[in-house]
Amino acid sequence: MSELIKVEIEKLSKEIEEHNYNYYVLSNPTISDFEFDKLLEELIKLEKEHPEYLKPDSPSQRVGGQITKEFKSVKHKYPMLSLGNTYNEEDLRDFDERIRKSGISNYEYVCELKYDGVSISLTYVDGILSQAVTRGDGEKGDDITANVKTINSIPLNLRGNDFPAEFEIRGEIFMPKKEFLRINEDIRKQLIEEGYNEEEIYEKQLKNPRNATSGTLKQQDSKAVAERKLDCYLYSVLGENLPFKSHYESLEAAKSWGFKVSGEMEKFASLDGVIKYLEKWDTKRHSLNVETDGVVIKVNSYEHQRFLGFTAKSPRWAIAYKFKATQVSTLLESISYQVGRTGAITPVANLKPVLLAGTTVKRASLHNADIIEKLDVRIGDTVFVEKGGEIIPKIIGVDLNKRAGSGTNLFEEETGPTKYITHCPECGTELVRSEGEANHYCPNELGCPPQVKGKIEHFVSRKAMDIDSLGSETIAQLYDAGLIKTIADIYELKKEDLLKIERMAEKSANNLLEGIEASKKVPFERVMFAIGIRHIGETTAKKLAYYFKNIDSIINATLEQLLEVGDIGEKTAQTIIAYFADEKSVEIINKLKVQGLQFELSGEQLANKSEKLKDLTFVVSGVFTKFNRDDLKKTIEQNGGKNVGSISGKTSYVIAGENMGPEKLKKAEKLGVKIISEDDFIKMIE
Ligand code: IVH
Repeated sequence: MSELIKVEIEKLSKEIEEHNYNYYVLSNPTISDFEFDKLLEELIKLEKEHPEYLKPDSPSQRVGGQITKEFKSVKHKYPMLSLGNTYNEEDLRDFDERIRKSGISNYEYVCELKYDGVSISLTYVDGILSQAVTRGDGEKGDDITANVKTINSIPLNLRGNDFPAEFEIRGEIFMPKKEFLRINEDIRKQLIEEGYNEEEIYEKQLKNPRNATSGTLKQQDSKAVAERKLDCYLYSVLGENLPFKSHYESLEAAKSWGFKVSGEMEKFASLDGVIKYLEKWDTKRHSLNVETDGVVIKVNSYEHQRFLGFTAKSPRWAIAYKFKATQVSTLLESISYQVGRTGAITPVANLKPVLLAGTTVKRASLHNADIIEKLDVRIGDTVFVEKGGEIIPKIIGVDLNKRAGSGTNLFEEETGPTKYITHCPECGTELVRSEGEANHYCPNELGCPPQVKGKIEHFVSRKAMDIDSLGSETIAQLYDAGLIKTIADIYELKKEDLLKIERMAEKSANNLLEGIEASKKVPFERVMFAIGIRHIGETTAKKLAYYFKNIDSIINATLEQLLEVGDIGEKTAQTIIAYFADEKSVEIINKLKVQGLQFELSGEQLANKSEKLKDLTFVVSGVFTKFNRDDLKKTIEQNGGKNVGSISGKTSYVIAGENMGPEKLKKAEKLGVKIISEDDFIKMIE
């Protein structure tokens, strides 16, 4: 029986890896995502029931979940060198000249794109991925095997049977551009809901795909790595007595073993071909889903490579040609100032449209007054625009030769240094800038139109009061008609008022009033989020609600009490205090109370009961930051789960805190029991 299961696990693993290969390496899936998930689920189930058959190269490892507290430092068998750089054709001709003069002839070049990511060295023993190490200082790097196993295009075991018993293969792990944009869009949506302004969002977003890759690979929880879909191109095979005569041949073989080798690689008999390749990719690279910053040119034959050898830092047989940073100059036509929902002012440069790295750029953020001053940008200037990480455009400087007085400025007169606005462009209130803050703010929170409309939009949004029939257009109409000036006014709306609004028919008015009525049942923690205190996102609102249990305790809370709530820092605590110190805020809360909104936890919430963890068993190990151990255990029970003392094949989850014992960790890994953090646990009971 158990032999049959072993065979079944092996068969399933093979089948899943084949689909992985089709999807991620060949980009040619042959089954649907749904069917794929079913197969994987089946495998995970069997491995859980029979942990003795869980192998380190099982595709279930790609889902992640393994926690590495500290990455082990590993000495590279072959040092990881860097490449000499060239920036123009002349340098490249010098490189070619040096090779010719060394005495070799009839040499070929292989050109590959230079991928902008994080280099990695993978070791395979008997066809199985045994170790993945970062470059580090070139001599020693970090063992990030668990994280690398989650990258779907990296084979956990190799195809065919003609690979060397032991070898290393090196390449570049990168974050595809589309994935980078997707993650940034998610971060943006989340932060907008939490009331952050453009500048703060920009600060918190991923800066470029390379940084994002390196940050992701440093994660201790491999599940976090699995969630960000990294990819990897392999470009160099290393080992003793490799059966190849050339680099090109080695990569062709690597391809047949299941590695993702770039399709952009080409072989040339002379430098002329190389130069044509550079010209072609200088622009074409922008259409790829991976960032590239140059071309790597390598002498193909291994014999030639051995002959040419190395300098102290880099091989003499290879060189990198770096593309010029994609930069253009254009005219700064005007600067506009946007007022966000929180009152933060963001200056935006309006540019004469210009093509840059494949997209038309019309606007660029100028961030804040300091940046404008530092760059000394003036309206009418010709400015240099560059794409940071090729994705977000920014102004990097001014072409002073083209400023007024030089005779080439497109504006008649010198416009003088940019004077930052002193008053809100929307409501005319004088702006303020607090000590240490980069942004100017409009303090007229309850009277500045975009702030008020923004507050109301946030209040009715899905994760807040969820009044979905009240869209931003209707809000603007109601606001302009003077029918709503604060969030409390929503509950005073009458049908006859609504019917006065353009395009509002009887039916939509009824719908809206029903939606407003229904929102009175929305639980306290969401009301807390909806009222829109700066820096109070969904999670913090929930924590406040559960900690203080009702609004009056929050209104009366001292700084010290607020700081006792997990994850609330000094700045957030101060914001909460300032918010409730304003009697206008308290007045709005009082009006909402009278209307019957939920300003305390319900009886059920107080009892904190649910069946969400029914049939699940937990082992709690280590020290936690958001619960003490007893509370954590109590919470498990109140939600229908069971606590057990030691890990077995039947354990559903280990909740790992700081300093979890290494033995427990090992045992959980061996038995394939899922290890989760306290945050994962909180998500389970939400
Ligand atoms: S070959 C001796 N090929 O560029 C080094 N490197 O400065 C041989 N890179 O650290 C490296 N794409 O991370 C090679 N097609 C490619 C590459 C590539 C990106 C990176 C690699 C290395 C750096 C060289």
